[in-house]
Amino acid sequence: MELLNRPRRLRANPLIRGMVRETRISKSALIYPIFVREGTGIVEPIPSLPGQFRYSPDTLCQELERVRKAGVPAIMLFGIPDHKDEKGSGAWDENGVVQKALRMAKPQFPEIYFITDVCMCEYTSHGHCGILRGQEVDNDQTLEVLCRTALSHVEAGADMVAPSDMMDGRILAIRQALDKAGHQNTPIMSYAVKYASAFYGPFRDAAGSAPSFGDRKGYQMDYHNRREALKEAAQDVEQGADILMVKPALSYLDVIHEVSQAFSLPMAAYSVSGEYAMIKSAAAAGLIDEAAVACESAVSIFRAGADLLITYYAKELAGWIDEGRIG
Ligand code: PBG
Repeated sequence: MELLNRPRRLRANPLIRGMVRETRISKSALIYPIFVREGTGIVEPIPSLPGQFRYSPDTLCQELERVRKAGVPAIMLFGIPDHKDEKGSGAWDENGVVQKALRMAKPQFPEIYFITDVCMCEYTSHGHCGILRGQEVDNDQTLEVLCRTALSHVEAGADMVAPSDMMDGRILAIRQALDKAGHQNTPIMSYAVKYASAFYGPFRDAAGSAPSFGDRKGYQMDYHNRREALKEAAQDVEQGADILMVKPALSYLDVIHEVSQAFSLPMAAYSVSGEYAMIKSAAAAGLIDEAAVACESAVSIFRAGADLLITYYAKELAGWIDEGRIG
């Protein structure tokens, strides 16, 4: 048969397939989320996230050694306090769990880039992401506590802050608060496009941060919306965000694609707890090949347009990159 175009020529063997790859991924694009809680000597398995643990600040350092060895350059810290209150005061406490962990770990691991999640939901007794007025989260009052929280993280050693609360105007407020305190050079990664998602379920079990009433639809985005993602991203760019994030990732590849095309800022995607837990449980049931599905999922997120990937599989992905499974 006279066929001029035979696409299979470029699929003939691993060498040529590697050469013509369109999406290349590197360990330098991986960010690993880690949970820290109060106490010492704690390495507590998280039932909703098999393979993930809650660490106390001292054991966190042992985990960071493994992160460093795997070649993952960055972590994202989430705090689980012992005590919660109405206002979530543990979030900005100088001796709060994240602040303590940063003071202990950052000097020991200067080569790891420390990002902190800035939000109130792990610290408030009601589990909402801000200060309540009646049944509603009050936007402008919440901005004040977010600024205090972000500043306290940076003063304890955070290299970058990542606000995930979805209040209006928080990027500008945090930027101004950091600048005023002399932290003009500390970047902000905005959870710019964060949908109200059921995929956060396992995280909320891990962090004990499920809202005690209602839901987060009054501040997180409606997943029917696409143009609204561009509106949110544009506002955060104007307010001084350094990196934009879309979250979750796998059900939002269209959004990652569109936002990455529309803006010149680096794009992060957060492959959230539910995405990880689904792969883990399907693999445990013998239904899928865990490594193959995790690799395919991660590459799809980069192919969609992400430059950075926040994932509970970060250490494993680094290993799979080393083995040449993906890359
Ligand atoms: C805090 C926050 C959440 C996640 C990241 N930051 C939970 C939420 O918004 O309910 C979810 C991460 C995940 O599911 O892995 N607001």
